[in-house]
Amino acid sequence: MQNYSSRALDFSMQTLTIIYPDDWHCHLRNENALATTVPYAAKQFKRVVAMPNLQPPVCDVDAALNYLQEIKAHIPEGADFTPLMTLYLTDKTTTKTIYDAKEKGIFGCKLYPAGVTTHSTQGVTSLEALYPVFATMAKQQMPLLIHGEVNDKSVDIFDREKRFIEQHLVKLTQEFPELKVVLEHITTKEAVQFIESTSSNVAATITPQHLLLNRNDLLAGGIKPHHYCLPILKRSLHQETLIKAATSANPKFFIGTDSAPHAKKQKESACGCAGIFSHHGAIELYAQAFEQANALDKLEGFTSKFGPDFYGFAYNKAKLTLKRIPWVVPKTIPYAQDVLVPLFAEKTLAWQISYE
Ligand code: NCD
Ligand code: ZN
Repeated sequence: MQNYSSRALDFSMQTLTIIYPDDWHCHLRNENALATTVPYAAKQFKRVVAMPNLQPPVCDVDAALNYLQEIKAHIPEGADFTPLMTLYLTDKTTTKTIYDAKEKGIFGCKLYPAGVTTHSTQGVTSLEALYPVFATMAKQQMPLLIHGEVNDKSVDIFDREKRFIEQHLVKLTQEFPELKVVLEHITTKEAVQFIESTSSNVAATITPQHLLLNRNDLLAGGIKPHHYCLPILKRSLHQETLIKAATSANPKFFIGTDSAPHAKKQKESACGCAGIFSHHGAIELYAQAFEQANALDKLEGFTSKFGPDFYGFAYNKAKLTLKRIPWVVPKTIPYAQDVLVPLFAEKTLAWQISYE
């Protein structure tokens, strides 16, 4: 590790070497998109958890293993990169699916309340009905990854995460104390407080956009469709709480970029879809947020240690070096038959990964 202080910004610090990071939540998509998403992911990470919200969703072991092969075909030669596969829970998921999944090395199961986000129409309509599945997951030590928002038209979109915690998550974590639960991409102070109050079996991931942006960046001075993701950006008070949590060295909070590419024309639309691509510069974006909080010394725990600690994995052996060489994020990146607009497009980031 470099010698640096967390108390004062030390701009003389030119390099930062950390254990190679993993991404515990991202969307690689499929088909043509993989030619973009997989090489970017493999540059930034050694292991990534691939979300199952394809169309159709990845609901059983065969689908997950086929998807794994499809991803593997795009891993650049010589890259040490492991995709970790997930299953999409539906009302029809059975306990047998969980046993099969465990046997075949599937990493975890993803819970989308039906209709809550992109490609979630086949998600779960009743959590209670899935309790036998959760009980089996707990026994099989298969983690449950949750998109924690209610999909209720009567609930304000800015309150949907808070409401999910109150209405479902408190009960679920009490019913299944042995189940490893990750509340993905948290966005509110209520989520931070909830995670802090729970056992070590319950953790949360935090995205770069929720550390770097708040709802003004989405809505003030013109609507910014490329800052639209779910859960939606919240007010700055929540952003500040997330920054504190991420930089607190509390191992219950760790990386999960939620990098979620969409073609530019799908985002810049009368009904633009939710999701932000960040794998072009994920670690550099987190470094920016941590440096702004005078907490670069906390970056390695967040990006490279707390996730493996939680999931019972070894740390990556390789190291990643960041150099203080400012670079401008490209305006667009080729994506399938179109382009995508990456997070912080045309903005300057202070750090970049050195691949020397
Ligand atoms: C994700 C996507 O595009 O798949 N979108 C998003 O806004 N985060 C789905 C998700 O994780 O909610
Ligand atoms: Zn996601």
